Amino acid sequence: MKRLFVTGAAGFIGSNFVRRALHLKTDWHIVALDALTYAGNLENLRGLADTGRFEFVRGDICDAAAVRGALAGGVWAIVHFAAESHVDRSIHGGAEFVRTNVLGTQVLLEQARQMGVNRFLQVSTDEVYGSLGPVGRFSETSPLAPNSPYSASKASADLLARAYHRTYELPVLITRCSNNYGPYQFPEKVIPLFITNLMEGQPVPLYGDGLNVRDWVHVSDHCDALLTVLESGVPGEVYNIGGNNELTNLQLTHTILRELGRDESLIRPVQDRPAHDRRYAVDFSKITRELGWSPQIRFADGIRDTVGWYREHEIWWRAIKTGEYLHYYERQYGAGGVNAPV
Ligand code: NAD
Ligand code: DAU
Repeated sequence: MKRLFVTGAAGFIGSNFVRRALHLKTDWHIVALDALTYAGNLENLRGLADTGRFEFVRGDICDAAAVRGALAGGVWAIVHFAAESHVDRSIHGGAEFVRTNVLGTQVLLEQARQMGVNRFLQVSTDEVYGSLGPVGRFSETSPLAPNSPYSASKASADLLARAYHRTYELPVLITRCSNNYGPYQFPEKVIPLFITNLMEGQPVPLYGDGLNVRDWVHVSDHCDALLTVLESGVPGEVYNIGGNNELTNLQLTHTILRELGRDESLIRPVQDRPAHDRRYAVDFSKITRELGWSPQIRFADGIRDTVGWYREHEIWWRAIKTGEYLHYYERQYGAGGVNAPV
């Protein structure tokens, strides 16, 4: 059995990753560490323990003793998703972003160095490159130019990861992916927020002129890219991941309205996000050329399936919107406390 240590496994991408990895890699055993902040939800991991190859540990990546304890059995690789991930929250207060994303990453890198791992995969974001004008794409050699406290904290974590490779030869791999969508995404991010608002007959808040551009990639394509980099990537290298699927937020909103049979009257233009990155677009030719990965899911299909998933999982997202999900841990494990409040 290959043992993997996955941080942030109860979040959106982490939970999709562990489900996919346990399904595709039947000789992998996964130990998951997650603090269960407002963004972590045990419901996202339902059924995985039944495989007999999955263990969940509630713990904070900034707590070196907790990380050491969870790593005690030894692991082949660490896949590091745990982060504060929402740009708007980082604008309201950056401290938690620096604590988890920077300090937490350093704690993990240090524990990985001390115990020796074969791979350390730092799951990063295209936002570290900043904002593009109407043309051009981010490549792995584009300068880091983050514009929000969130992206600045992710860029800092990437630099620490790079330094651990250079200084200690820790086998670090860094991936930088564009905007993900799909099942289990927390309804503060634009796609699930808009889908669930519309399902409730509520308006959707569109920032600024609605012409900011994002490149959308389905979460299962991102997870396959991560598996590819984990198994075949070259330590010390950075790999961009993208969907080749640029849309303005207005185009995206119209698509979601159409899928839900709603009209434009539900669009509410609201004040823009400060320092709102105008456009993201990713050149991912390196991972395609060197490792053979490319995205497989067409946006038209992926967004239809995603809307279908939110339709079929109304209990899941309503429990988040009411705050009920914050008590799942307490219910499953007894008086161990509830998740931090939203
Ligand atoms: P998410 O907010 O849905 O999940 C984050 C998870 O990390 C949660 O389960 C949370 O409980 C956990 N966590 C937070 N602080 C922790 C701490 N101190 N200790 C342990 N666990 C902690 O995030 P996501 O959208 O799934 O993103 C996962 C990773 O992928 C992040 O590192 C993010 O920067 C990166 N990323 C996200 C996207 C995207 O579009 N969502 C794109 C590219 C990269
Ligand atoms: O590019 C990868 C990044 O994508 C990840 O690193 C981040 O973790 C993830 O949150 C995401 O960041 P964005 O800021 O691009 O995602 P968000 O869903 O918050 O916003 C997408 C776009 O939609 C952005 O241009 C802002 C706009 N928006 C967002 C919200 C929440 C709105 O117009 N209205 C909204 O209510």
